[in-house]
Amino acid sequence: MNYFEHGTYLTVNHACAALMGVYGNISLAALLFASRLMIKEEHWNKKVVNFSFWSINIGLMLMVVLDLFPAGSIQFKAVVEQGLWYGRSHEFVDYGIFNKLTWMRGIGASVFFFGGVVPLTWFIVTRLRSLKSTVNTIDKMDPFLKK
Ligand code: HEM
Repeated sequence: MNYFEHGTYLTVNHACAALMGVYGNISLAALLFASRLMIKEEHWNKKVVNFSFWSINIGLMLMVVLDLFPAGSIQFKAVVEQGLWYGRSHEFVDYGIFNKLTWMRGIGASVFFFGGVVPLTWFIVTRLRSLKSTVNTIDKMDPFLKK
């Protein structure tokens, strides 16, 4: 089965969802965890971070639901029924339902990028002027350093 399926959009579906779902999200969690300690409390913007979180996850889900999974399934069916190369051919990939689904990916990608990546990048970059002073941070972390 993997011989037919490998390299179709089912691989893309699995790879994108798993990589962003596991390592993308854990990287963002680490970034936000560290930023929360470094940025002054009054300059933290929960609304932007929440909005970005939901946009990234909903955008990824829309990419999977509106394109990658259905396109991969249709491609897999084409490979099984009409041959390995047909499912990867210009004729199959650039026309019909597969091509329409590829355009649908733009919806999820836009939500991901404009609702998630752009606001989060803006938030982190603009907080550079709102960092706690190093002395205070060290004070809080280790009372012995005060001496
Ligand atoms: C941390 C979780 C995972 C990540 C980040 C991940 C990522 C990936 C990536 C990037 C590929 C594409 C490799 C390529 O074609 O060059 C892949 C393929 C594959 N993964 Fe995963 N994966 C994860 C978990 C799993 C699990 C739990 C299973 C099965 C129980 C699995 C089964 C497969 C299979 C069968 C393929 C080959 C698909 C194909 O040939 O088209 N993966 N994975």
